[in-house]
Amino acid sequence: MKVQEIFDLAIKVGIENDPRGTKEVANYLKSVRKDYSELPEKKKKEFDKEKLTNPYSDSKFQAGDKNKAVKRVMVGIDIGTGGVLLAKELERQGKKIDLIIAHHPVGKALADLHEVMDLQTSVYAKGGVPENIAEGILREGIESVARRIAPVNHYESPMTAELLGISMINIHTPADNAVWKFVSDYIEKKNLKRVGELVDILKEIPEYKKATELGAGPVIFSGSEKSRLGKVLVSGMTGGTDGKAHEKLYERMAHYGIGTEVAMHVGDEDRDEAIKHYINIVIAGHIASDSLGLNIIMDELEKKGIEIIPCSGYIRYSRVKK
Ligand SMILES: [Fe+2]
Ligand SMILES: [Fe+2]
Repeated sequence: MKVQEIFDLAIKVGIENDPRGTKEVANYLKSVRKDYSELPEKKKKEFDKEKLTNPYSDSKFQAGDKNKAVKRVMVGIDIGTGGVLLAKELERQGKKIDLIIAHHPVGKALADLHEVMDLQTSVYAKGGVPENIAEGILREGIESVARRIAPVNHYESPMTAELLGISMINIHTPADNAVWKFVSDYIEKKNLKRVGELVDILKEIPEYKKATELGAGPVIFSGSEKSRLGKVLVSGMTGGTDGKAHEKLYERMAHYGIGTEVAMHVGDEDRDEAIKHYINIVIAGHIASDSLGLNIIMDELEKKGIEIIPCSGYIRYSRVKK
């Protein structure tokens, strides 16, 4: 497979698992194309044309050659300069890395991270929170995230890859969509009553089982093992990151009948609000959840005969039937 084909495949998996649904994603792309066509020429020049076909602003081609044939990939949760140098060192040791795949955004994908956050509106809407309310609360966060990441040195590791002639992409929301769908469907199929049961069944998933051994598995941040679950919403899994005012969502979640939230991570303000509104929080584990999402995409590469070398915390587990 070529670099571009791998990237396109990841976007396809992301769309298939998108909380908005494939139709809504198509509508979103249509609206981006319409907005673009209405831009004045000067603004059109500044516009990132990739946004016309890729609905995930936080996932991009980062460095190297899009047409390069790939047989071996190195995949990590965070790829900084050290990660890029690791790929070069592996090559020196006889394991040539054709492509680096990072999960967390770098480069322009980091600069544009906030643009995927509106997707979270659909996640909360699935749990019963009206779209206008979720959108209103999330909007404050989107703007604050944009300001927070604006001064960052976005291009540090992509520049290293470019200098060393290594190809690099990053896949963020497509992988997070995949874990969101996987965990949501998994929980829905079980008839669970208490928070402790939810934690137990999460630990049966290989990535979370491994993370538990590593000290970063599922834990309860609000509520207790004996607490009644109520309606479960997997809400902190996809859509970029959490922004300012995120804690305001808990009052609404309680109001619209959500009893338990499953998330990758939450802040202390979130936890305080959840406790105040009697919402349980189960933290599935950040890196384990990111790994599970990536695994769903990497399985597709494995099926095409590509070798996967995990690094930077990535827990590789294959679901490919052998
Ligand atoms: Fe993630
Ligand atoms: Fe993450």
